[in-house]
Amino acid sequence: MKQAFRASIFHCLADPGPHADASAVEHIEDGLLVVEDGRVAQVGEAGRLLSQLGDDVPVQDYRDKLIVPGLIDCHVHCPQVDIIASYGEQLLDWLNRYAYPAEMQFADEVHAREVAGFFLDELLRNGTTTAAVFATVHPHSADTLFAAAEERNMRLVGGKVLMDEHCPDALRDDPVSGYEDSKALIEKWHGRGRLGYAITPRFALTSSEAQLEAAGRLAAEYPDTWVHTHLAENQEEVDEIARQFAWSRSYLDVYDHFGLLRERSVFAHCLHLDAEDRKLMAGKGGTGAFCPTSNLFLGSGMFDLRSMTDAGVRIGLATDVGGGTSMSMLRTMSEAYKVLHLQGQSLPASRALYLATLGAAEALYLDEHIGNFAPGKEADFIVLDTGGSHITARRAAAAETLDELLFALIFLGDDRNVAATYICGATGPRRAAPADR
Ligand code: GUN
Ligand code: ZN
Repeated sequence: MKQAFRASIFHCLADPGPHADASAVEHIEDGLLVVEDGRVAQVGEAGRLLSQLGDDVPVQDYRDKLIVPGLIDCHVHCPQVDIIASYGEQLLDWLNRYAYPAEMQFADEVHAREVAGFFLDELLRNGTTTAAVFATVHPHSADTLFAAAEERNMRLVGGKVLMDEHCPDALRDDPVSGYEDSKALIEKWHGRGRLGYAITPRFALTSSEAQLEAAGRLAAEYPDTWVHTHLAENQEEVDEIARQFAWSRSYLDVYDHFGLLRERSVFAHCLHLDAEDRKLMAGKGGTGAFCPTSNLFLGSGMFDLRSMTDAGVRIGLATDVGGGTSMSMLRTMSEAYKVLHLQGQSLPASRALYLATLGAAEALYLDEHIGNFAPGKEADFIVLDTGGSHITARRAAAAETLDELLFALIFLGDDRNVAATYICGATGPRRAAPADR
């Protein structure tokens, strides 16, 4: 089935960098996005493409709105939606006081299913079409998450958490059960439709060496799965790692030692790294997830984007809800701007969008499928409406360039400005699986 969408269209072709390289983006003021069987067929000037389009092809008119690729959240916790914005602690106390109790409730599969549905619908309402997601230690938490994503036809990377020490008994697995359960989940879900499995050791503090070794074994046995964990978020955590793994050169060295640093390894935070770590991460193809709302909320520190990108590390933006304080990638982009501004670094609107679309897709090794409107990619996109709130409507009316408009939307916009979210060219219940290529 062929369909077309007429709007102002913006997407990235490459990294615009800190100086907003205009050749890295494409903006078509009066554009047409042509979708066939759930994939991008063409994108270009409406005037030209409409004349070639058959009369029978439906054209959705979004001429007063802006179409951009679906947003990608590189690190977020499904079970933590219920404790988002919980007062007053830094990481280790916050985990004990808020995160772990919320995750314990996932022992109840009915609860896990209900939260997963809410969580994914909330992502979609905010314009996020793909995410890399932590479930809980319970295997059924991954089953319910994947089933909910499959129902919505979302491209999603997720996994059951591995944790076998320094955590509540109710959230503990062990090296053997964690390995076996993860393996069974990989066999069941990895590569099924748009789903991918992430081997998910929570962080090195909550896994024994035997468990990290088992996780590394799985990562080697299934090289096209993801590895998803936390790295160097909080100074107290980093100090504890140095005590627990006294043999290691650094926190990253612990993961590397156990074979957990490779292509498709996603490390949330990466705040307290040195030049050697950055070089190692870049060389092995690891990814850093930049989680600005979380880093500010938990008082963890400031992400050094310039040093990471100069070293050649792949970077994607992430909410890290519930340490993060918003499901909205627009809000997340605006906080990223502030974190960088405080360090004398810049984040133009086009690059902020890159870090949540094509850059995030590259960071997750998903750019052959999603991230921009290159023909053949899956047609995940959102329709942004400056009329979503009074302040965005007023500010948009005064904007003279697309850059100015985008920047204002990033700062003032939220879910009210996401008029529609399309998954493979479909909204709501019409969302269907993409045709095979
Ligand atoms: N480090 C280990 N677990 C977590 C978590 O749930 N959230 C955050 N922000 N950091 C972590
Ligand atoms: Zn996290």
